[in-house]
Amino acid sequence: MSPAQGPVLADSSQSARGNVADVTDPAAALARPGDPGWWRTGVVYQIYPRSFADSTGDGVGDLPGIIEHLDHLAGPDGLGVEAIWLSPIYPSPGLDGGYDVADYSAIDPLFGSMDDFDRLIKEAHRRGLRVLLDLVLNHTSDRHPWFEASRASRTGPEADWYIWRDPAGTHRSGRPIPPNNWLSFFGGSAWQWDEGRRQFYLHTFLAQQPDLNWREPFVQEAVFGMVRGWLRRGVDGFRLDVFNALLKSSDLASNPPGRRLARSPWQRQRHLHDKDQADLLPLLALFRSMVDEAPGRMTVGELFAGDIGQAVALTRPGHLVFDFELLGQPWSAASFRRTIAERERAFGEAWPTVVLSNHDQSRHVSRFLRTLGRQDQRTHDAVAKAAAVLLLTLRGTPFVYYGEEIGLPDIRVPNALAIDPPARRASWRFPWWNRDRCRSPMPWTGDPGAGFTTGRPWLPFSPDHVTRNVARQAEDSDSVLATYRRLLRLRAATPALHGGGLRLIPSPGEDVLAYERELDGGRAVVAINFGLRRFVWAPPPGSWKVALSTGPRAVGSPLGDTPRAPQLEPLEALIALEG
Ligand code: GLC
Repeated sequence: MSPAQGPVLADSSQSARGNVADVTDPAAALARPGDPGWWRTGVVYQIYPRSFADSTGDGVGDLPGIIEHLDHLAGPDGLGVEAIWLSPIYPSPGLDGGYDVADYSAIDPLFGSMDDFDRLIKEAHRRGLRVLLDLVLNHTSDRHPWFEASRASRTGPEADWYIWRDPAGTHRSGRPIPPNNWLSFFGGSAWQWDEGRRQFYLHTFLAQQPDLNWREPFVQEAVFGMVRGWLRRGVDGFRLDVFNALLKSSDLASNPPGRRLARSPWQRQRHLHDKDQADLLPLLALFRSMVDEAPGRMTVGELFAGDIGQAVALTRPGHLVFDFELLGQPWSAASFRRTIAERERAFGEAWPTVVLSNHDQSRHVSRFLRTLGRQDQRTHDAVAKAAAVLLLTLRGTPFVYYGEEIGLPDIRVPNALAIDPPARRASWRFPWWNRDRCRSPMPWTGDPGAGFTTGRPWLPFSPDHVTRNVARQAEDSDSVLATYRRLLRLRAATPALHGGGLRLIPSPGEDVLAYERELDGGRAVVAINFGLRRFVWAPPPGSWKVALSTGPRAVGSPLGDTPRAPQLEPLEALIALEG
């Protein structure tokens, strides 16, 4: 049976066709034949659409809001990023902030319409900005018509589109026993009993996020059709949500025990069978060949609970992988030195990503201030700037999470008031961090509503938003925002900084991290003082001039050939170029 014959497939291909027929401006796509890969030189900016800018006054960000603020990102006064990645914008019950997709081929009315989307692509491309969508392919919402059809019948065309299994037996109480010991990352068993089918279905995340069965060819066909539709609409690439979990072992064997003392039950298993299967590689290759049908497109896969080695093994030309080792480090030069050395060793010639914050974790400025035991605004800004130098000068493609360019901190949302679903069920048995804290609305101005909304924001603003906002920082040449702008321009103009190799330099004290970047003889040196004391620090031999300093050092001043070795001020980060 061909996919178009099943009723649900007919629906889905219909919407995919809708996607294709309405192609707005494919010629505007920024693909440049022969381009070695813009993602290796540029920086990607992650937008959490609910929290970026609200144009309707309902308190939730939307696509027209993003369009209104594109000049913040690109153009003469913009940050200077190369691409935006939008967290999911598809229709969704919103139980996991849109990572529970009910229709892959449409726009959630909460965020606007397909016309708004086409306008976003056009306006972004007009500014030289590329657009990446978030593809959540491991699971759908339980409201997706595919799941509704799959749940409705054991024999229908969609019966095997999800992972259904008979119970392993029946408890004395009469309760059915799940097919194996797999656990949901969001707490409890990964199996949900369905009274209708009298079978369990698998959900790696919420019970309302059933896992698709990627061993079913029709699933592949339907998803690929949908992806092609977005590509034809002018999308430049995708972030692939938890992509290493797409395939599970076909015999669904139970996982062996893992770290006995780990905090959560999920971590106390070794996940040998519910993710990271060998046939992910051919599936990825197939997916890439579709994306590569036109040049200039990139993908980045989110590694679900994996390490650097796995990230390297899954990295391909044009396909990057998020490993979260850097994101896990405290504000310590020694920890970053160790992690950078390990990553450089593991990645070799392969191209890494550089991530300090995203929509799932505490924002890095808040994490780092906790390590330092400081909360004052001066230290806050100094840490945000020094971390920006780190993020934007390491080897790899940096990802900036909205708000970090003004040093936006976490907000406090008690679990009892949490919107994030796993946080609502957190307990000592299921430890969970509240992800609401890193999703607060972007403060554009110090006005009521922060220039974000005229209504009531869906999450509170950060308490310092009256003083910490885009408008205020745009006027201050010493702000975090001004530092990001300078850094992004310097990075773009300096091949060693965006394309060079990286060599760690031994440092004089444990609080200093220093490294050199080099490409075709062009050299840049970066030094960051993580501590609150001054340090004498000498660059490697050469004639160095300061290109950027987050301290008082003047741009263009020589470094290293003064009678006394230069001192790094507390929390100062500097970049010097040779010549
Ligand atoms: C990814 C997303 C996260 C989501 C989960 C399930 O980890 O980043 O926000 O909850 O996948 O889709």
